[in-house]
Amino acid sequence: MLRRLHPDQPEDFAFTEANRKWAEAQITKYPEGRQASAIIPLLWRAQEQESWLSRPAIEHVADMLDMPYIRALEVASFYFMFHLQPVGSVAHIQVCGTTSCMICGAEDLVAVCREKIAPKPHEVSADGKMSWEEVECLGACANAPMAQIGKDYYEDLTAESFGRIIDELIAGKVPVPGPQNGRYAAEPLKGLTSLTEYDSGRTQHNASVQLATELGDTVKHIDGSEVPVLTPWLTDRPATPKNGRSVDDADRSQGRPVDETGTSKQEAPAKTRAKPKAEASAEPEEQQPETLTSARDGKPDDLKLLKGVGPKLEQTLNELGFFHFDQIAAWTPEQVAWVDNRLKFKGRIDRDDWIEQAKTLAAGGETEFSARVKKDEGD
Ligand code: FES
Repeated sequence: MLRRLHPDQPEDFAFTEANRKWAEAQITKYPEGRQASAIIPLLWRAQEQESWLSRPAIEHVADMLDMPYIRALEVASFYFMFHLQPVGSVAHIQVCGTTSCMICGAEDLVAVCREKIAPKPHEVSADGKMSWEEVECLGACANAPMAQIGKDYYEDLTAESFGRIIDELIAGKVPVPGPQNGRYAAEPLKGLTSLTEYDSGRTQHNASVQLATELGDTVKHIDGSEVPVLTPWLTDRPATPKNGRSVDDADRSQGRPVDETGTSKQEAPAKTRAKPKAEASAEPEEQQPETLTSARDGKPDDLKLLKGVGPKLEQTLNELGFFHFDQIAAWTPEQVAWVDNRLKFKGRIDRDDWIEQAKTLAAGGETEFSARVKKDEGD
C-alpha cells in the first residue's frame, strides 16, 4: 500500500507553545546522542495538533531531533497511525482489509465507507467530518471484521452495525468500542467452554473497552485540557495537575518503575543534568560572538566530533559563522545564549557541554566521544 505525502502542503508548521514545551520535555527522556528516539511521540503530537502530518510538520520534528528529513519521513510513512493526508474533523476510519477480516466481510465495510463517507479512500466527506482508508492487519483478527476509529477498535462488525456507528459519529456521539455482536472479548461465539469460573465478577466491558469508555478519548484530540506535561526528571514539574492527582500518582499510574526517591532509573541520569529552576530562569543577555565568513585557510574543523553535533547542526553552526573548535571554546555565557537562541533545540550547548569538549579538541586533545568517532571511522 503506497503511503505518500499529500500533494497540497501547507507553507510551514510550528508547535503551539504548550506542545513545544511538551515535545522538548519528551526529548530530555533520552540519553545524549539518542534524541532521535523521541521521533514517534513528537510526530504523534504534531498530528494531534493538526489532525494530519504535513511535510513541514515532519521536517520540523526532524530539525528538533537533528535528523535527516528522510529518516523522519521513513517513520511517518511506515506506520498507519500517522495520517499523511487531511482527515475528517470528527473521525478517520481505518478498515482492516487483511485475510481474516477480508473473508469475514471487510469488503462490505469498505462499501459502507464508500456510500456514507466518500467514494475513494483518503477523501474527506462532503461535510468535512469523516474520512476512511483500508489498512493492513490491526491485530484483532479473532474479532474480524474490524475497524479502528480514532484511538479504539470496533470489532465483530457487520455492514449494518458499522453503518450505525458511522451515523452516530456524524451525529456527534461516540459509540462504545469493542465487539458489536454481544461478545465480551474474543471468546467463542457460543460462549466460554473453559475457564468459566472467571466469568463472574468481571467489569461491564472487557479491559480495553472499559478503559476506552473511562478515558472517553476515542475521537478526541488534544485541546489543552490534558494532564500537564509530566517531567519529574526536570525541576519544573507542575505543582498541581488539573485532574487533582499528584504528579507522582499520575506517573505511577503509567507504570513507570520508580526508586525510593520517586525517580525511575531511566529518568535519573536526565535529572542530574537538569538545571535548578532559578538558574534556568536567570538566562544571561545574549551577545553575538565573533563569527567568520568562511573557515580559516578553507579548513574547517570537524564539528561533528563534538558530542551532540550531527551533520545538520554542523551545517547550522557553519551558516552562523562557526567553523573551528577554538571559536566555540571561547564562547561566554552571553554568547552561548546568542547561539542557543538560533538553534532549533535550545539547551543543547550546556547539556552536552560543548565548551569543555571544544577546549579539549582545540588544544589537540581527544574526548571520549571524538576518540570513539575516529575509531569507528577507521574501522
Ligand atoms: S486480519 Fe483484520 S485484524 Fe487481523
